[in-house]
Amino acid sequence: MKVAITGAAGMLARDLIETLAPEYELLLIDRLDSCKDLGHEFACMDLVDESKVGPAIKNSDVSLVFHCAAFTDVDSAEGKVDEAYRTNALASASVAAACREAGIPLVAVSTDYVFDGTKQAPYCEFDLPNPRGVYGKSKLWGEQLAFQSGARVAVVRTSWLYGVGGKNFVKTIRRLCSKREKISVVNDQRGTPTYTVDLAGALAVIGGGLIAGRPYEGLWHVTNSGVCTWFEYAKEIARRIGAKTTIEPATTEELGRPAPRPANSSLQNLRWRLEKLPPRRHWNDALQSYLAQEEQSPGPQSGDV
Ligand SMILES: NC(=O)c1ccc[n+]([C@@H]2O[C@H](COP(=O)([O-])OP(=O)(O)OC[C@H]3O[C@@H](n4cnc5c(N)ncnc54)[C@H](OP(=O)(O)O)[C@@H]3O)[C@@H](O)[C@H]2O)c1
Repeated sequence: MKVAITGAAGMLARDLIETLAPEYELLLIDRLDSCKDLGHEFACMDLVDESKVGPAIKNSDVSLVFHCAAFTDVDSAEGKVDEAYRTNALASASVAAACREAGIPLVAVSTDYVFDGTKQAPYCEFDLPNPRGVYGKSKLWGEQLAFQSGARVAVVRTSWLYGVGGKNFVKTIRRLCSKREKISVVNDQRGTPTYTVDLAGALAVIGGGLIAGRPYEGLWHVTNSGVCTWFEYAKEIARRIGAKTTIEPATTEELGRPAPRPANSSLQNLRWRLEKLPPRRHWNDALQSYLAQEEQSPGPQSGDV
């Protein structure tokens, strides 16, 4: 059986490819060709071009699509509004329409940034989204268009991803710790760091369920468990890598990033629990596994997060 992965050159997809490869033939889709030599079928295309994505999916004999491609730079999205909406909303609609026409299900990955962060507890799947920035708005519109497509769609919202296949917060903290005696990290945004290996395993469960005819359509929140601030997360990274750098708490206002971010974007994995799937492991245990994986295979180095 063959499944497709969009955004196949990205961070999450790298671990999704590893997770799925033993069980499925893969069709990898991305506009970058850095994944073309992984030994899987590869289609190079810009998903914004709907004339390409439809035929690519319909003519490929795939049984499911994992849609990971996205415009993921939260700050840049504020200035590249049309590009963000085209990629995260319209291209997602094209992928979903292609799935409907091919009669196959879709697992589309979305974000905690669809919430405004005013809730004092982790967000459930039925909480009303109210995104604050362009990235969150464009992803929410993508969710809605995917659901309206008529395909069998599972949308999986996740948060604060890190994996060896991309630039991420852990690599940034490691790099800054190697250069500075002191760094400031925001302590007024709460969420859950999520290891892409763990998310990839969950996506495989949800996708496999859809293929098997289980009623896994609809919204899912899937993260590691536990909640922390970026400051607490950075402190734990520094402790685990043995860095002597002082990590100081800062406010969102002090650091002045272009995009507004939710103060609380932690997600309760309610649907996952109700479906009686195994408990999600704590983000700190996942961080330990990630650091071990990074030692073996560091992947691209970080820019600024
Ligand atoms: N990273 C996080 O912290 C986070 C948190 C919550 C949810 N998510 C969601 O998780 C998913 C995976 O995220 P990620 O961090 O793994 O993303 P990523 O590393 O940025 O990878 C996305 C991939 O999609 C490609 N892509 C973007 N636009 C495309 C287009 N128009 N046509 C074809 N390919 C295109 C990108 O190519 P380019 O490099 O050329 O753009 C990149 O290879 C996304 O849906 C994201 O919204 C991420």
